Amino acid sequence: MKAIVNVDNNWAIGMGDSLINHIPADMKFFKKKTTGNVVVMGRTTFLTFPGPKALPNRVNIVLTTDKSWSAPDVIVCHSVEELFEQLRRYDTNTVYVIGGSSVYEQLLPYCDTAYVTKVDTAKPADKFFPNLDKVSDWELACEGDVQEHKDVKFRFTTYRKK
Ligand SMILES: NC(=O)c1ccc[n+]([C@@H]2O[C@H](COP(=O)([O-])OP(=O)(O)OC[C@H]3O[C@@H](n4cnc5c(N)ncnc54)[C@H](OP(=O)(O)O)[C@@H]3O)[C@@H](O)[C@H]2O)c1
Repeated sequence: MKAIVNVDNNWAIGMGDSLINHIPADMKFFKKKTTGNVVVMGRTTFLTFPGPKALPNRVNIVLTTDKSWSAPDVIVCHSVEELFEQLRRYDTNTVYVIGGSSVYEQLLPYCDTAYVTKVDTAKPADKFFPNLDKVSDWELACEGDVQEHKDVKFRFTTYRKK
């Protein structure tokens, strides 16, 4: 299982229900990595999608405790146990954890790779991803060149579990 996330200099990922950084090249990267695969997210993240509608050409799995909630083309799971039961149908290498904060935190222990887009900003935020530079069982495996979008610098990195 892999995590895919966009963080700022403080490993912040969001403020309220919103993303703090929108980088088109990062959206493209996210689409390329996840298309044809399985994406796992919390209900709050799902509700931020346009529509809100399931991401096309992907198996969308949404975690919620609300037993009455449903959405078209979405597999709903009500616990991590139920999620793992569901994930038995898929190759684990095709499963991407796409947020938000609470779901990353719960599922990171089961991930072996994290695609982390680092954006050189430090905006007000209240949702964070664990700082993998400070987690002893994770290491930086590769780091792309610095790129720029509208004066904002960013780079693609990959972390792997040791
Ligand atoms: N920068 C990035 O790459 C990135 C990516 C994704 C999201 N984000 C940001 O992250 C923030 C959202 O994160 P969040 O932590 O507030 O919300 P979230 O993780 O997206 O969703 C939280 C909700 O998921 C459900 N849930 C979580 N764990 C569950 C479990 N074990 N069993 C059943 N349901 C479970 C619950 O829904 P119910 O309340 O319905 O029970 C919970 O309220 C937003 O700011 C968003 O923009 C950033």
